[in-house]
Amino acid sequence: MFKIVVILLSYASVNYGIDTPIIGILSEETYIVQHLFPEHYDSYITASYVKYIESAGGRVVPVWIGQSEEYYRRVINYTNGILFPGGGTYFNETKGYGKAAKQIYQIALEANKKGIYYPIWGCCLGMQVLPFAQLGVDIRVDCLLKNTSVPLNFKKTSSKSRLFSNAPKNILELLSSQNLTFNEHRYCLTQTVLKKNGILNDWQILATNEDVNKLKFISAMESVNYPIYGVQFHPEKNPFEFEKKGVPHSKEAVDVSLYFASFFVEESKKNNNTFPSEELEKKSLIYNYNPRYTGISVKSPYEQVYIFNRTDFSAAQLL
Ligand SMILES: *[C@@H]1O[C@H](CO)[C@@H](O)[C@H](O)[C@H]1NC(C)=O
Ligand SMILES: *[C@@H]1O[C@H](CO)[C@@H](O)[C@H](O)[C@H]1NC(C)=O
Ligand SMILES: *[C@@H]1O[C@H](CO)[C@@H](O)[C@H](O)[C@H]1NC(C)=O
Ligand SMILES: *[C@@H]1O[C@H](CO)[C@@H](O)[C@H](O)[C@H]1NC(C)=O
Ligand SMILES: *[C@@H]1O[C@H](CO)[C@@H](O)[C@H](O)[C@H]1NC(C)=O
Ligand SMILES: *[C@@H]1O[C@H](CO)[C@@H](O)[C@H](O)[C@H]1NC(C)=O
Repeated sequence: MFKIVVILLSYASVNYGIDTPIIGILSEETYIVQHLFPEHYDSYITASYVKYIESAGGRVVPVWIGQSEEYYRRVINYTNGILFPGGGTYFNETKGYGKAAKQIYQIALEANKKGIYYPIWGCCLGMQVLPFAQLGVDIRVDCLLKNTSVPLNFKKTSSKSRLFSNAPKNILELLSSQNLTFNEHRYCLTQTVLKKNGILNDWQILATNEDVNKLKFISAMESVNYPIYGVQFHPEKNPFEFEKKGVPHSKEAVDVSLYFASFFVEESKKNNNTFPSEELEKKSLIYNYNPRYTGISVKSPYEQVYIFNRTDFSAAQLL
């Protein structure tokens, strides 16, 4: 009886925001896709991250690197959450991904401290950039696991986490027993390196795996105090990427992808952030851009990418 009352109270205290969330996806330098294009470009977004958010009922706006703090403040004010994608770049570039992630992270933290529930999803490189965004130091360690799907080794803490505590039992069973989380990385985060840099208490480690050299790395973590999540694996690839042959595509693989997409999109519904006008919203959405089919080339890591140049950045004024 007591239990039921508590549950009712906790539901009553949830403030639901909107049910038409818009998620920003941060672009990044073109290092790993520039070879696919004859002309020079400045930044790109892998299309599977866009489809991933859309698969769970979210819409996407591209977020440019190299912009002013004012721009990133508008991004946070107008969107309901942000996704830091994977890929490959350095964090130390003057107008790059690392700098933008750091600015966005700090502004998102401010918003959360003011009571605006603003979530961040970091995937692979986007997870590795979270401590950089927090500390301003690149603390990643070398760690090799490519083209490999593995089951998650859940930590006990995961059962009380936001990310997994409400997951359907069959999803947790699949994740812990089948090869459904695809890894493609040469850096990672470890418990040791978080501890060494004094931030272990800020993060709850939820699952781990081992690289080819048996180094135990963090596969999933969440911030203790804020709605910030990091996964080292690639849930967005399961339904949408076919270039890397190790990506799983079974029904179960698609189901777990949708679990993560849906989790994050639902998190983003918990604030009321919105664009100041519908016109500005429409002009800012990813629908204004066309993805390019890069998978036609054998050298492409992705099926499709959105590729941008400085000239597109004038569109940044839209946001
Ligand atoms: C969002 O706005 C609705 C309607 O004004 C309100 O009921 C709700 O409490 C707000 N939620 C948040 C998280 O601010
Ligand atoms: C992108 O901008 C650079 C410098 O402004 C220019 O050299 C390049 O040709 C542009 N690329 C495309 C595809 O327009
Ligand atoms: C963002 O919203 C806050 C209050 O909600 C406001 O004070 C601030 O001026 C806004 N910033 C931008 C850049 O729109
Ligand atoms: C960024 O880091 C990389 C790798 O550590 C290094 O090679 C490069 O020179 C650095 N670039 C800048 C602009 O500091
Ligand atoms: C997962 O992959 C490993 C390595 O390829 C294999 O040995 C194992 O049988 C697979 N597990 C399942 C449940 O398919
Ligand atoms: C990736 O893994 C798949 C299945 O495990 C395998 O068939 C394929 O050859 C691998 N590709 C590379 C480039 O290692």
